[in-house]
Amino acid sequence: MTARGWSPDSWRNMPIRQVPEYPDQAALAAMEAKIARFPPLVFAGEARRLKASLARAGDGQAFVLQGGDCAESFGDFTANVIRDTFRVLLQMAVVLTFGGASPVVKLGRMAGQFAKPRSSDTETRDGVTLPSYRGDIINGPDFDAASRIPDPSRMEFAYMQSAGTVNLLRAFANGGYADLHEVHRWNLGFVERSPLAERYADLATRIDQTLAFMQACGMSDLPQVRETDFYTSHESLLLPYEQAMTRVDSTSGDWYACSAHFLWIGDRTRQPEGAHVEFLRGVKNPIGMKVGPSMDADELVRLTEILNPANEKGRLTLISRMGADKVEAKLAPLVRAVSRAGRNVVWLCDPMHGNTTTVGGYKTRPFDAIMAEVRGFFDVHEAEGTFAGGVHVEMTGSNVTECLGGAHKLSEADLAANYATSCDPRLNAEQSLELAFLIAEELKARRVAGLTAPAQAAQ
Ligand code: PEP
Ligand code: CO
Repeated sequence: MTARGWSPDSWRNMPIRQVPEYPDQAALAAMEAKIARFPPLVFAGEARRLKASLARAGDGQAFVLQGGDCAESFGDFTANVIRDTFRVLLQMAVVLTFGGASPVVKLGRMAGQFAKPRSSDTETRDGVTLPSYRGDIINGPDFDAASRIPDPSRMEFAYMQSAGTVNLLRAFANGGYADLHEVHRWNLGFVERSPLAERYADLATRIDQTLAFMQACGMSDLPQVRETDFYTSHESLLLPYEQAMTRVDSTSGDWYACSAHFLWIGDRTRQPEGAHVEFLRGVKNPIGMKVGPSMDADELVRLTEILNPANEKGRLTLISRMGADKVEAKLAPLVRAVSRAGRNVVWLCDPMHGNTTTVGGYKTRPFDAIMAEVRGFFDVHEAEGTFAGGVHVEMTGSNVTECLGGAHKLSEADLAANYATSCDPRLNAEQSLELAFLIAEELKARRVAGLTAPAQAAQ
């Protein structure tokens, strides 16, 4: 059933923020019409399956791991980049599943994470002012006038890159790469030389022993061991593209956003009467919304009603991004208001976006602040009697130097060595793995204390 008053283009009647100014509107309309004829990138049945998994996370029966680049880039469209990020996500998931004894729902910020909201419409360097870079699907990152002009043809390349990426991810997830028997081989070269290598190798050995035991018991060919479910997600920001990718599912007759399994609304575009909320309220996918420190409790409850009127489990994920110093004070009243109102949500912690600072001209994030926010998030849920449903991180499988700290104690002086992000600073492979180990410890400790519901069947 279509939501009341909603159509794929009803967002066009609402006030909208973060809109690129395309100089050639006819070219934009022609590109939207072209993309509307392209095949969908995901199938509605997959989105429904993800929704059911997220519903389990909302009930404390699973843990969500959402991660990937802040912004994917056309320049980084290679098999190795995709494989390395996927591989680290798999490693993190296995650490959380085995260490934290919880099934993990794996959600990449991949295969479509191209559009970026900006705090300013313009950027000034050495007295020259140009439109801000808004992500490769809109304009180019180079600081020259031509590359900063929004260009609709970029949408077509973004679609093609998303299609190529999702194809490889599906092949990895189901074609043998993600087989748990390969767990030793997922280690990346530079992680092998890290203090975490031994810890990961030890975990991989324990998994091998468990698999050998299962084989001895005649349980060797479970599909859960041979393959994995991996889903895609991105910020639903560039609505002309999202509308063009929205289709009716022939099996249910419902509207689905088919650019990814899961779309979220950013912290800058979550106005209850705004275009971005309007668009996502009408699609049946599981959806998310960022919740930053300026969110008001009544407004949040109202947004949960707009975005999930049937109060369906797994439909709405709230992604808290407060900052380590604010998480307890800001998040607790929001969690309380949502649970008092009886609204079903999954709470995730994004410990990245509230902890960004600038050091020596580089945007960065301290590892300790990231972990402190995760701990604060767990504490709030423990105190409120609600479930910490998962984490949302900006990370990459590459050996970048963008976030401070971690096992290798990356310092301010190290940032320049390989600072490669086209937007926000990401955890590198080693820092991501370390974070997963620390979160698994939290999960385990809190589970032992009887504060989290026990996991049911692993999947
Ligand atoms: C992001 O996730 O990259 C982002 C822009 O986040 P937020 O909307 O929370 O600022
Ligand atoms: Co970001």
